[in-house]
Amino acid sequence: MADAVSVRAHAKVNLFLGVGERRADGFHELSTVFQAVSLHDDVTVTAGSDEVTVAGLDAERVPADPTNLAARAARAVAEHVGCETELGVHIDKGIPTAGGMAGGSADAAGALVAADRLLDAGLGEAELLEMAAELGSDVPFTLRGGTALGTGRGEKLVPVLARGTFHWVFAISARGLSTPEVFAKLDELRAAGKAPGPRTDATAVLSAVAAGDARALAEAMHNDLEAAAFSLRPDLRRLREAAREAGALRAMLSGSGPTMAFLCASGADAEAVADELTGANLCRAAFVAEGPRPGVVGLDW
Ligand code: C5P
Repeated sequence: MADAVSVRAHAKVNLFLGVGERRADGFHELSTVFQAVSLHDDVTVTAGSDEVTVAGLDAERVPADPTNLAARAARAVAEHVGCETELGVHIDKGIPTAGGMAGGSADAAGALVAADRLLDAGLGEAELLEMAAELGSDVPFTLRGGTALGTGRGEKLVPVLARGTFHWVFAISARGLSTPEVFAKLDELRAAGKAPGPRTDATAVLSAVAAGDARALAEAMHNDLEAAAFSLRPDLRRLREAAREAGALRAMLSGSGPTMAFLCASGADAEAVADELTGANLCRAAFVAEGPRPGVVGLDW
């Protein structure tokens, strides 16, 4: 058995996020299109120690203890195969810890794959996806990557055809935003008749992605959670306006926010938008990325 296995796990953006009814289990029924993007974390699982360490971007914001979702994922694999070896996890962060990009979910997906390989557990994709769904709604997608349609609470996935490369900027907010709070705010706004009902038709997004057409995608992108997030954080609207002026094709809340995603026509446009947003002091940081990317990939095999 190797002493350590390292993998790379990618962040995600939702190109379409339709939010339906709150279910009896507290989760909302989703109709979403995910895309994995180039921002990534490297996750190493080691045998013989249960230490959790985090380095790199925003490392101080990530729990370096057994509660870390990646540590829980590694333990889940060991328990699944009845292995008593202690597993340590090291995460080298490149995904901003900001909310809306599934960084923690990507780490968990990476730890599942690395632990499976390290322990020679031989778990199939179906088993890994099932364990991923238990860890969090976004973990199955961050495991698979690419571009996919997600239903249920986001864990039921169907891959979709994507052509070409899409250019993104992600603007990171100085303050966080709680995911349950954003979902609850949407329920509240809808109950008061202040937010429209769920959008479920992602056809225009799927066609744009299949054609590799950034302008069509910019028109079609949609996120039902925007009304709720903007109501909780009106400052995000200013960021949206600034990015439009700086030449982004479209600005939209990433997932449940507060990270904002900006779709651009080219890598050069994305660099210019990121510079403008950083210079205008409207966000904590802005990162350029490309999609789609795979989910979790091995680094040493
Ligand atoms: O699955 P995950 O732990 O990422 O979800 C975090 C929270 O986001 C949930 O506890 C729930 O409040 C909200 N959520 C939801 N509906 C979903 C996904 C998440 O209400 N489909």
